[in-house]
Amino acid sequence: MENIDKIISELSLDEKISFCTGADMWNTKSLEKYGVGSVTMSDGPHGLRFQKNGNTTTGINDSSPATCFPTAVTSGASWDEDLMFEKGAAIGREALSEGVSVVLGPGCNIKRNAKCGRNFEYFSEDPYISGRLAAAFIKGLQSTGALACIKHFAANNQEHKRMNGDSIVDERALYEIYLSAFEYAVKEAKPACVMASYNKINGVHATDNKKLLTDILRNEWGFDGAVITDWGAMNDAVEGFFAGCDLNMPGGGTYMQKEVFDAVKSGRLDKKYIDNSVRRILKLYEKSAAAKGKYKTDYDTHHDAALKTAEEGAVLLKNNGVLPLSLDDAALIGFKHEKTRHQGAGSSHINPVKLINIRDAIPDTPYFACCDEHGNVTEHALKKAAELAAGCKVAVVAAGLPESYESEAFDRQNLSLPDGMNKMVLAVAEANPNTVVVLLGGGVMELPWADKVAAILYMGLPGQAGGEAVRRLLTGEVNPSGKLTETWIKSDSDAVSGDTFGQKNVQYRESVYVGYRYYETANVPVAFPFGHGLSYTEFEYSDIKTDGKTVTAKIKNVGNYDGAEVVQLYTGAENSKIYRPAKELKGFKKVFLKRGEEKEVEFILDGRSFAIWHNGWVVPRGTYKIMLGSSVRDIRLTASVKIDGEDIKTPEHLRGTFYDKPAGKPTEEDFVKLYGELPDDKEPQKGEYTMDSTCLEMKDKSLVMKMQYALTRSLTSKVTGIKKDENDPAYKMMVSSAVDCPMRAIVIHGAGRLKEGFVRGLLDMANGRYFRGVKQMARKQKKKK
Ligand code: BGC
Repeated sequence: MENIDKIISELSLDEKISFCTGADMWNTKSLEKYGVGSVTMSDGPHGLRFQKNGNTTTGINDSSPATCFPTAVTSGASWDEDLMFEKGAAIGREALSEGVSVVLGPGCNIKRNAKCGRNFEYFSEDPYISGRLAAAFIKGLQSTGALACIKHFAANNQEHKRMNGDSIVDERALYEIYLSAFEYAVKEAKPACVMASYNKINGVHATDNKKLLTDILRNEWGFDGAVITDWGAMNDAVEGFFAGCDLNMPGGGTYMQKEVFDAVKSGRLDKKYIDNSVRRILKLYEKSAAAKGKYKTDYDTHHDAALKTAEEGAVLLKNNGVLPLSLDDAALIGFKHEKTRHQGAGSSHINPVKLINIRDAIPDTPYFACCDEHGNVTEHALKKAAELAAGCKVAVVAAGLPESYESEAFDRQNLSLPDGMNKMVLAVAEANPNTVVVLLGGGVMELPWADKVAAILYMGLPGQAGGEAVRRLLTGEVNPSGKLTETWIKSDSDAVSGDTFGQKNVQYRESVYVGYRYYETANVPVAFPFGHGLSYTEFEYSDIKTDGKTVTAKIKNVGNYDGAEVVQLYTGAENSKIYRPAKELKGFKKVFLKRGEEKEVEFILDGRSFAIWHNGWVVPRGTYKIMLGSSVRDIRLTASVKIDGEDIKTPEHLRGTFYDKPAGKPTEEDFVKLYGELPDDKEPQKGEYTMDSTCLEMKDKSLVMKMQYALTRSLTSKVTGIKKDENDPAYKMMVSSAVDCPMRAIVIHGAGRLKEGFVRGLLDMANGRYFRGVKQMARKQKKKK
């Protein structure tokens, strides 16, 4: 490849603008005369989703076979950075052997509410662990020469209205909760790319958000890689260049290229912004070219890594001593043990090279399917399940969320399991007190039968080796050591973000009180706390010592099995003058201990262990508790340190509000005091629609959009090749993405086949300007020069 400056000096403005939009669905453009090839990208975070058929938006599930690792909900619950490094490295190797350079992952968004359809793709409700695990994944992946693209930057915490919704977040919550995981991963692991998310943050789309992409990401954190739009996320390309958004994906089209050209020619946009983006994409190519063709995948080794991750990420929620068990005395009952739910739906869906279901791993034990994977069950089946359960020593029931309940592009409606699934567990538990539930699904579930069963093993979405992991965990070949990275609330109505989650423009009213930060501070009873996870053995904590810079303690395995414990370090200010959560995770260590073994663990504290965001990171002066625990609610050792810092108080106008004394739910009145004036939440009316409006939003006011809506719905199956089936999350995702897609994103996804003028014409018509609309549609695409 020729010298980057030379290339930039020789390309015409038009060529440069065009270079900043990809060539097709997964590739950047090449510049043959300069020896610049294209950069190939592919999803994703839990295994490679490489679409050989390349340039289409269809066939989301039709990718080349790859190792299907446990999704982030499970791998995250391992609390194991080494394992995460291995997972990243394995995915990097698979990417390189398919000719893919950039892997679109990891996902590092915070689980603000348990109903987010994409929570299974994210690590935690806590930024500290999310950042650590994302960094480890990126380091592993990039150690192979493949390149990571951390996503979805930022505050993309729900799927409803993900393409044009607004995340309205106060500055402190933004920095402490929503940006902090990205910050750590970017600074520590230096991913080659960052993906700008679909949503707006405080009124400005992520893709044209200068504060986010330049002021914070580049200037504050020192990121020097390329920013890529999420697929179809570009809002205003002129503002996008100005903000520091480099590459518009997917490619193939010319969305707003003329506007950018005109903006440069008229002096509204300095051409240096285009040059900067071209330079960053060329550098990305340079990095990608250096690693091409280096690996051949060893799928057996990767299967073993997937198995280890599933084992380490399994969380033993409850055990009255029935586990570990002997399979000789057990029976399996379930929602199809022969079809274990192993992954989530959407762009992270993998076509596994092999799949071990629970039944494959446990073939010889008496078995009855009882209900189907959607939870449909008959009285007759319940009776048979109870009979089988009554005749064995231990009954193992598999239950969990059906595939259609959670996915990219839509959120969960509630936290319930299907009725039939609950009935099945209850019928079995009534017949046999030694009932063990193996739970599958991407996140929190309400478990109305939890106190009626003897044990619950939560596997999350355990990937292709899930069945094998279940057998080894149940029998004690492996001792469970996973811990929840999300609070399991008792009921959906307990969610602190419940009043605003799922709206289009979402007030993040709870501010910094996300997840356990709220439940601990407000003393809300929960089903299973953050950090919770049992073992077959017992650990004793002793001898905490701290000088304010390091913390040490001894951990001893005092039970009957070898096993690993995740020691968690929380800090909490005593009598804080400024409002803040009672406990915040600031360190963790996973220690493996043989029976009777004792080890010392050491934690390093730094400024961030005590800091808050207060127009910059500052440490409030005061006495802090250092708490070591086995979960956020099971604190075993506490020490106290005096920390020098600044005298910061809760501002007068926040006294007496939710923030000062968190209880119940924050109100809009509370939030206005914290955030200031709220943006106008009025839905645009006919005449006010923009390229950011969606067909779904306009259809009730516009006949054209009503027709467009009906047409899109009816064509979804044909265009995508996915069979119409409301139980299939891929179909549900495609329909919801298509009808709720902003007009601009329709143009981008049209990849040049659907002319911008045509879509703008439709929009004019929706706004009641029929004549102008028809003229727009008839007009040929204007030349750029
Ligand atoms: C998702 C991204 C994904 C991209 C490409 C988008 O819809 O939000 O996570 O990487 O598609 O498949």
